[in-house]
Amino acid sequence: MQKLDMRYEGKAKRVYATEDKDLFVVEYKDDATAFNAQKRGTIGQKGVVNNAITAILFPQIADHGVPTHFVEKLSDREQLVKAVTIVPVEVVVRNVAAGSFSKRLGIDEGTLLSQPIVEYYYKSDALGDPLINTDTAVALGWATLDDLSTIKDYALKVNQFLKDFFLKRGIKLIDFKLEFGKLSSGEIVLADEISPDTCRFWDARTNEKMDKDRFRRDLGNVEEAYLEMLRRVEAQ
Ligand code: C5P
Repeated sequence: MQKLDMRYEGKAKRVYATEDKDLFVVEYKDDATAFNAQKRGTIGQKGVVNNAITAILFPQIADHGVPTHFVEKLSDREQLVKAVTIVPVEVVVRNVAAGSFSKRLGIDEGTLLSQPIVEYYYKSDALGDPLINTDTAVALGWATLDDLSTIKDYALKVNQFLKDFFLKRGIKLIDFKLEFGKLSSGEIVLADEISPDTCRFWDARTNEKMDKDRFRRDLGNVEEAYLEMLRRVEAQ
């Protein structure tokens, strides 16, 4: 599938049109940003790792009842996806307190939550992705109530699948961010990626961080942690 004009360039990926208007090519970069791009750098092999992990997880998520935009992996850094319009609402699911949740509410990192929490953020680099609720998204026309109900149902299904998948591989799924898109038919599908960039993964035995917090917090061994996560995802 030939890449035509670039449609979108984000912090971690580029999206290209193809000769088929219903298909895009996504290219994963090694560029890393944190704290709304105030911190910038690169993580060696990140694009390859995130492409590979997403390409393994998305088809299995589809098998668990959540349709996705993923079509196939094309190369180390590229995948073919269905063209979607991204819903500008980022969905975060939390199983254990960490990150902005711990900071905002004064809850110690590592505190187990008695049930998963689904949060919504407005996808806006200019505003630093502010926390919103579903009323905000509906009132401002970013999604319908029906869309949001589907999205929440899908997000919790993805959480259940990922929690089990990673626990079998010795990893606790602390929290993660999802993005959804709409196909031209109006159908909501899971889009974007699932990777150490978008999830918090802690080693189940040692609680060692195996994700982008190593970059955000200057913990070292960032590339090693990403490669170790790929190794565990590839394990049968
Ligand atoms: O920073 P915060 O604690 O809200 O992040 C929650 C989860 O969502 C983390 O796994 C983080 O990696 C992910 N996230 C993301 N992209 C953002 C914000 C958060 O992937 N823009």
